[in-house]
Amino acid sequence: MRGIKIADRISVLGTPPHIAGKGRIEFGSLVSFRGFGSRSWFHVSSKGKLSIGSRSFINSGVMIDAALRVSIGKNCLIGDCVVIQDSNYHEIDEGSGVKTKAVLIGDNVWIGRNSIILPGVEVGDHSVIGAGSVVTKSVPPRSLAAGNPARILREVVASPDYIRT
Ligand SMILES: CC(C)(COP(=O)(O)OP(=O)(O)OC[C@H]1O[C@@H](n2cnc3c(N)ncnc32)[C@H](O)[C@@H]1OP(=O)(O)O)[C@@H](O)C(=O)NCCC(=O)NCCS
Repeated sequence: MRGIKIADRISVLGTPPHIAGKGRIEFGSLVSFRGFGSRSWFHVSSKGKLSIGSRSFINSGVMIDAALRVSIGKNCLIGDCVVIQDSNYHEIDEGSGVKTKAVLIGDNVWIGRNSIILPGVEVGDHSVIGAGSVVTKSVPPRSLAAGNPARILREVVASPDYIRT
């Protein structure tokens, strides 16, 4: 690990996440983790960076794989067993190369349990991802998206300073 930068207090309930790899990690102030049942696991490759914004909450069993860049904004709620990965790690066709593209999650985003966020996806501020979704394409701000593949279901009502509880 090249370094973990923690702005301020973080809190852990249960088992802390397992952190592997040689990349950079930044946690904002008051980020909290829960580790009951299954432990969260973060892998950040040597050229990768993972950042989690202040007051975001990461539930149990979350897997984050950052080969390049995974950014989670402020005040986000990441449900248990969510997977976020910015690389496919394998090519599909011979010589086609491996798709690796940053995953950018905005502020006040809620990702329902067991969802998978795939490389190159951006989720805009205030948006919600329904449980068990496979998110293959970006989701605009203030949207409720769900399903496999995730589709936009409707707009989310949220004033700019709204923080979901
Ligand atoms: C996303 C969610 C909050 C939406 O709840 P809701 O507003 O009550 O939505 P509804 O049940 O009215 O569903 C609206 C439509 O979206 C569909 N839908 C809702 N959630 C879905 C999901 N996770 N996957 C696929 N489709 C979904 C419904 O089938 C319904 O479709 P229809 O209009 O064709 O009938 C809820 O479905 C959900 O996923 N909750 C779990 C959140 C979670 O993981 N919490 C754990 C702690 S983080």
